[in-house]
Amino acid sequence: MCGIVGYVGPQPALEVVVDGLKRLEYRGYDSAGVAVLADGRMDTEKRAGKLANLKAALAEAPRSADGIGIGHTRWATHGAPNDVNAHPHVDNDNRVAVIHNGIIENFASLRLELEERGCKFSSETDTEVAAHLLGEEVKEQGEDLAAAMRAVCRRLEGAFTLVAMHAGDPDLVVAARRNSPLVVGRGDGENFLASDVAAFIAHTRDAVELGQDQVVELRRDSVAVTDYDGNPAPVREYHVDWDASAAEKGGYDYFMLKEIVEQPQAVADTLLGRVAVDGTLTLDEMRLAPSELREIEKIVIIACGTSYHAGLIAKYAIEHWCRVPCEVEVASEFRYRDPILNRQTMVIAISQSGESMDTLMAVRYAREQRARVLAICNVNGSTIPRESDGVLYTHAGPEVGVAATKTFLTQLVACYLIGLYLAQVRNTKFGDEINAVIGQLANMPEQVEKVLGTVGPVRELARSLADSGTVLFLGRHVGYPVALEGALKLKELAYMHAEAFAAGELKHGPIALIEDGLPVVVVVPSREGRGVLHDKIVSNIQEIRARGARTIVIAEEGDESVRPFADELIEIPAVPTLLQPIVSSIPMQVFACELALAKGNDVDQPRNLAKSVTVE
Ligand code: F6R
Repeated sequence: MCGIVGYVGPQPALEVVVDGLKRLEYRGYDSAGVAVLADGRMDTEKRAGKLANLKAALAEAPRSADGIGIGHTRWATHGAPNDVNAHPHVDNDNRVAVIHNGIIENFASLRLELEERGCKFSSETDTEVAAHLLGEEVKEQGEDLAAAMRAVCRRLEGAFTLVAMHAGDPDLVVAARRNSPLVVGRGDGENFLASDVAAFIAHTRDAVELGQDQVVELRRDSVAVTDYDGNPAPVREYHVDWDASAAEKGGYDYFMLKEIVEQPQAVADTLLGRVAVDGTLTLDEMRLAPSELREIEKIVIIACGTSYHAGLIAKYAIEHWCRVPCEVEVASEFRYRDPILNRQTMVIAISQSGESMDTLMAVRYAREQRARVLAICNVNGSTIPRESDGVLYTHAGPEVGVAATKTFLTQLVACYLIGLYLAQVRNTKFGDEINAVIGQLANMPEQVEKVLGTVGPVRELARSLADSGTVLFLGRHVGYPVALEGALKLKELAYMHAEAFAAGELKHGPIALIEDGLPVVVVVPSREGRGVLHDKIVSNIQEIRARGARTIVIAEEGDESVRPFADELIEIPAVPTLLQPIVSSIPMQVFACELALAKGNDVDQPRNLAKSVTVE
C-alpha cells in the first residue's frame, strides 16, 4: 500500500521519481506527489487521483530540480484522498519533506503535543505528524536529518516506511522502516530508494534489502544503514533476476492481460529446477530439513484473498497425498482466536507480495508459539519470507495488475510441490500416484497454454453479461475454492455482486436465489477419480437450470454428460482432479477481466484497492 520513491544522483530527479511512481502506481492510486530541491528550496507538487493528474500539474508548471527527489503514490488510510492529504508533507518552515507508507498509530497524541508547541497542521493525515516532528528534531540535532529520523522513529508506534529530505542538504535522502517495505537500489554515482525494486529496475538491478527498524542515509556515492540508535546495521545485498521489460505492458493495453498470457511461462519457471527427470523433487531452498518435515503433525495455512483460495486448494492436495491434517485460515482471523500450535505444527504463509500485514502478523504469532513457518512468496527478500523459517519462492516475475493472476497459478504450483515433497519425504502410501502427479505437474505449462488458446468464446460471453446485476459461482471439491476465486475476481474488477457456493450447499438455502436468466458459473470436477462428485454436480446443474438459471459450465473436454444442460460450455483440458484448478481458474480470470473491460473499468487499478495491503 502506497508506493514510495527516493533518488539522489546526476539525472533529472523529477523524471526519475515520476517514472518510478509510474511503476509503483499499482500500490495505491488515490493521489500522488513529489518533492524536489530547486536551488536549495523545497518544492512540492501533489494531486488527488491517479498519477496522470500529477503529471499534468507538473507539465503545466515546469520546474528545475537539483539531483534529488522523493515521490509517493497513495492508498488513503487517514484522511480523504484529496490534494491536501496527498504526500509529501512538509514542516512549517518548508525545510523538511516526508512521504510515508503505513499507519502511525500514536499520531493523535503526537499531533496534540505538536499543536501545543505551535505547529500548524494542514492535512488530516498521520504522516504530517512525522513531518513536523522531523522539522523540530532537525533543528535540535544541528541540521542532521539522519539523527533526526532516528529520534523520530523511536517515538513512533505502528507500521511505517518514512522517506525524507531536507532543504539544507541536497545530497541526502534519509529513510526508515518498521513493518513496511523499503529497498535500496545501488547505482554508479547515484542511488535509489523504493518500496519495490520495480521503481528503479530501469536504472539498476543491484538491490539492498533493509531490515526491521533500520535507517538508511542515501547519498550519490554512499549508502549507510544503522539501527534506530545509530549503530551500523547488517543488510542483505542481492541482484534482481528480472529486467525492466518484465514490468512493462509489452504491447498490451493492461498489465492484467499480459499477466494472464504469461502464465505458461510463470508456471514453467516455478517448476524449473525443482522436478528431476526421475520424478524426485528438490526443494532445498525451503530451509526445512527432511527430519523436521517428518516431525510435522499438523499443517495450518494462513493467507488473505486470492492467496487464501490457493491455500484452500492446497488443503485437498496435502491431506490426500500426505495424510497430515491441514487447516486453512484467513490470516486476519488467525491470531485473534487463540489457535493451538506447537513445534510439530507447520504453518504455511502464502503471500505473493510477502507484505500483507495480516499475514505477517499471523507469521509472527505462529513463530512465537514455536510453530515452524514456511512462506510461499513471489517477491524476493520481502518481509514474510525473511521472518519465516523457510521459503519457497514462486517465480512468476513482477505482477503489476492489482488482481492476482499468474501469482495465483504459481502459488498453486508451489503448494502442490510442497505437498508432493512432503509425501515423498514422509514416504506415504501413495508412491505411484505421487510419481504420476509429479509427471503431470511438469506438464502443466502446456495445459495452461492450451486453455489460453481456447478462451476466445469466454471473452464474448463476458461482454454479453456486462449488464447483469449478479453472477453466482458453484463448485465442489477443489472446484469450490476455484468458484470462490472466480467470484472474488468479478467483485474486485467488475464491481459486481458475485457469490460462490459449494454446490452441495445449494439446496440448503442459496437455491432460493435462482431466478430466470441469472448467470451461474459451474466448475465441474474431472471425471477421473471423483466420478461421484462429477455426477452430483451434473444434477446440481439440472436443478438450477430447471429454475431458470443461465448455466455457464466449465468442464473437461469431451465431457458429453454436461452438454445438454449447459447454456454455455467452456472446455478445459482433462488433468488429474487435484491439479484441475490450474486450468479451471483461467477462464474465470478471463471472464472477470473481459466483463470489467466491457464496463469500462480499469482492470489494473480497480477502485479502492491496492496490490499490497500493508495495514491491518
Ligand atoms: C485479489 C488479490 C488479493 C490478494 C490479497 C493477499 O486478486 O490480489 O486478494 O490476494 O490481498 O495478498 P498477498 O498474496 O500479497 O498477501
